[in-house]
Amino acid sequence: MEHPISKFKKWWQAALNDSPLKQKSAVCVSTIDQDGFPSGRFVDLKTVDEEGFTFCSYLDSEKGVHISANPKVALTLWWDHVGYQVRVKGVAEPISEEEAISHWRTRSREAQLTTLCSRQSQELKSSEALHEQLAEAETRYQGTEVPKPANWGGFRIRPDSIEFLTFSDDRLHKRELYDREDAGTWRMKLLQP
Ligand SMILES: Cc1cc2nc3c(=O)[nH]c(=O)nc-3n(C[C@H](O)[C@H](O)[C@H](O)COP(=O)(O)O)c2cc1C
Repeated sequence: MEHPISKFKKWWQAALNDSPLKQKSAVCVSTIDQDGFPSGRFVDLKTVDEEGFTFCSYLDSEKGVHISANPKVALTLWWDHVGYQVRVKGVAEPISEEEAISHWRTRSREAQLTTLCSRQSQELKSSEALHEQLAEAETRYQGTEVPKPANWGGFRIRPDSIEFLTFSDDRLHKRELYDREDAGTWRMKLLQP
């Protein structure tokens, strides 16, 4: 049986090849809010390995607040051009500060400055104020590195289950569900479409 992470990597690579999308690695991450409602939004999938699926965000954003109260999350991907859907269920935990810094360094300077000025998920009283802050930050950090804000980092989702669906026009989709067992090994079963 193929390891589900190897399978995911192959599918991701296949989806990246000739992708018509501008945001090629967008993934919907669903968290549970304080009233028990699911809440989904897209983020950029950074890396996948045996440890899990990593994305970056503000630790104190709405999703960050949800995760600290309930780390059980779901990821959903759909790559239309290859007909692949992937669903992941797992437990999220913050990545290390060193890892967050190395992801921060891959961001464009423009993205770093915007990230520094935004209070993600808080009410925006005026977009002018945000633009002013951005202009101030541009001046302040001219010629120097933009520091990573302490509240910006990432989450790694350690998967408990991963379902791979291969879309079929006749609706006989192939569904392969991998479940992680207690010993850390994976079991695969097919599901009806
Ligand atoms: C294609 C796409 C990629 C995005 N990537 C990220 C990301 O990597 N990190 C992030 O914090 N927000 C990202 N966003 C914005 C989120 O969808 C969301 O608006 C933001 O994280 C605030 O969510 P929250 O208030 O539920 O925490 C992305 C949006 C889109 C449409």
